[in-house]
Amino acid sequence: MEIIILATPAVVARTAADVIEQQVRRGPTVLGLATGSTPLHTYLELIERHREDGLSFSQTQAFLLDEYVGLPTAHPQSYHSVIRAEFTGKVDFRPGSVHGLNGMADNAEAEASEYESHILAAGGVDIQILGIGTDGHLGFNEPMSSLSSRTRIKTLTHQTRQDNARFFTHVDEVPNHVLTQGLGTIREARHLLLLATGNAKAEAVAAAVEGPVAAICPASALQLHPHVSVLVDEAAASQLAHREYYSDTYGRKPAWQGL
Ligand code: GLP
Repeated sequence: MEIIILATPAVVARTAADVIEQQVRRGPTVLGLATGSTPLHTYLELIERHREDGLSFSQTQAFLLDEYVGLPTAHPQSYHSVIRAEFTGKVDFRPGSVHGLNGMADNAEAEASEYESHILAAGGVDIQILGIGTDGHLGFNEPMSSLSSRTRIKTLTHQTRQDNARFFTHVDEVPNHVLTQGLGTIREARHLLLLATGNAKAEAVAAAVEGPVAAICPASALQLHPHVSVLVDEAAASQLAHREYYSDTYGRKPAWQGL
């Protein structure tokens, strides 16, 4: 796991966009996309590179991490709609190349297992973008999610529903249930890119990175993965005990190594 402490959220976004751009320019790519506010700056950066520098996503497929149960795809807060509005609809993904879970599926278990098969058939995820919940969730894997879990239905905690209430007119409108890739599914992506900015994430980042690997902090599952880059701003890094060590190591890293 490499922890990279960057000055501001804008530098976090540029660094994440650099990693994604390099991969996408290399050839056909499968991206794992996260919603939430944190990756929005990265998506804006990629949209700008598409418009200004010809970065093309025509050879890229994307899989969303999660989806609310009970929101039709066309609902403005379904993650299908959000990712289209914030990113994929503003660049040149081919029609049918952005995949998400169907939160209206009659059979959630069948939907989940088909989604897993679909990811495998695409060759697996090259780069998975991740945010982190204030309770340490990844995707919508709430505390006590099995570190080996697969895509399935989950019940949101009150805290997550409160955190996400800002996207709805009232907290009661935030769905109780979601479909999410499991921690075992996420861990199969070849490179995990965790983005976290702001003080509100400092505690969750410290628990995930420096705490024990434990289901109470789902993001601690990252410690089991061979290729994880944790990109944090100073505020999100503020509770890390070994900040100086991470910064010193990153500062002396040979440029050719990349992330
Ligand atoms: C939601 C998403 C997660 C995201 C988290 C944090 O619950 N399902 O994928 O990481 O929120 O969101 P934000 O970046 O807005 O803090």
